[in-house]
Amino acid sequence: MVAPVPTSERSDGFQPPSTPKPAFAPTPAPTGRLAAVQEMARWLRLLFETEREFVRTATTLIYRVGEPELKYLLCQHVWEAASHARFLRERGRELSGFGATDDVRPSLRQLFNEAVMPADATVALAGFYRVIKPALHDAYRHYLTATHHLADWPSRKLVEEFLADEARHAAEIAPYLPVAASACEPTSASASASEWSAHLTTLLASHGGLHSPSPPLSVTPSPLLPLSPASAPPLLSATRLYTHPPTPSRGRFPTCSSVFSHDPAETPIVRAWLIDPTTDARVIRMMVYVWLMMELDAVDYLATVFYDTPHAPFDLHHDLARHLWDESRHSQFGYRQLPRLGVDLLTLEHSLDLYTILVQMTPPERYAMMTMEFEANSFPTKAHVMDRVRELNDFEADTLLAFDRNDEQNHVRSGHRWLPGMMALFGETRSPEEFVAATRARFAELAKTYGGITPHSLPAHQRLTGEKILRLIK
Ligand SMILES: [Fe+2]
Ligand SMILES: [Fe+2]
Repeated sequence: MVAPVPTSERSDGFQPPSTPKPAFAPTPAPTGRLAAVQEMARWLRLLFETEREFVRTATTLIYRVGEPELKYLLCQHVWEAASHARFLRERGRELSGFGATDDVRPSLRQLFNEAVMPADATVALAGFYRVIKPALHDAYRHYLTATHHLADWPSRKLVEEFLADEARHAAEIAPYLPVAASACEPTSASASASEWSAHLTTLLASHGGLHSPSPPLSVTPSPLLPLSPASAPPLLSATRLYTHPPTPSRGRFPTCSSVFSHDPAETPIVRAWLIDPTTDARVIRMMVYVWLMMELDAVDYLATVFYDTPHAPFDLHHDLARHLWDESRHSQFGYRQLPRLGVDLLTLEHSLDLYTILVQMTPPERYAMMTMEFEANSFPTKAHVMDRVRELNDFEADTLLAFDRNDEQNHVRSGHRWLPGMMALFGETRSPEEFVAATRARFAELAKTYGGITPHSLPAHQRLTGEKILRLIK
């Protein structure tokens, strides 16, 4: 017997005041003059919903895995999945039978809500990449064999590209997956991952996989139908709610509360030095690379918003996925450049304050702080920093900072566009201005409890500080 799925899909128990969307209404199998078109449109619809659910739920892996390279890769895959979904929807809307809404059928949502559940992020990662992504890859492959090469040429070209992307994703993620359990030497991680993958495989199979929703000679149940209690395995997601961890994982890297302070013996970024005209430009460059790398905190806290907004329009998740990928690229600017300037990344503590505070707030509050406070107010200092770095004639540094600035301008624009929509999802009726002001005050209050709680992992003599940066440039 399958227990009912919890009505709230939010991690902090907050209940949106209204039920935003009607239940998914399955359409009957096509039989008329446009049956051939409708058949392929229904399949594209299933692929669209799968890609958008991947975006909504695979983002929960990002703050749970520790390795920055893996976080970056997940952000890239999420962005590519959002792009696939967008093109599928665009093409699908040209075809009769695709449907006009962005809704996701309950059976698919149940699969993805289950996929996030393992407490061990590596096990969850294996489920996404050993079960769901291969099923998606197979579905794209089968689509190519099932559709007419000339009649459905526009879909075929898209699917060919997505198929290549899926194959590349599989190759890119392979080094991060737990070693498959071998009969000779099974480890507990590989055994759990194998067990979990078998569970998800059964669940996926119980509603017909990701192939054509209504093939003429189907022997599997249509995924448009509710899950059959007889065929679906018991679900973890039916017994407890998924919650975001109170701190993000940074794996083997040292952590702290903040990399900003006024004390050069304490942190690598010394606020006064950033704007002091006598600071050596090489010090400014090093500090801004640390600043950029620490945008990994933005990656982690922005990633929490997708799962918490299951009824958001797809366009909102699409733009958030782009925002997420931008932040991961900004973080990589620092992550890739600092070692070239002599910094041992294992001496650079990662700041966790923003995540630990923001995860206590609602999604629109998190998004408001990010776009209307942190990003909107970063431009004057960054402009000064860019002018100082230009003294060095370092073309790559100038390029990275210019693209960062351009992206950040887009993020603030995006915030103006989407904050009201996100507020509406949570029944917020104040004006955005009032909401932002109140959120700022609430953030300051929460910071008293949830800020400054991460002690330095490393003693002062081992970690990168302002004083160390001075020595490094000598
Ligand atoms: Fe950024
Ligand atoms: Fe940004």
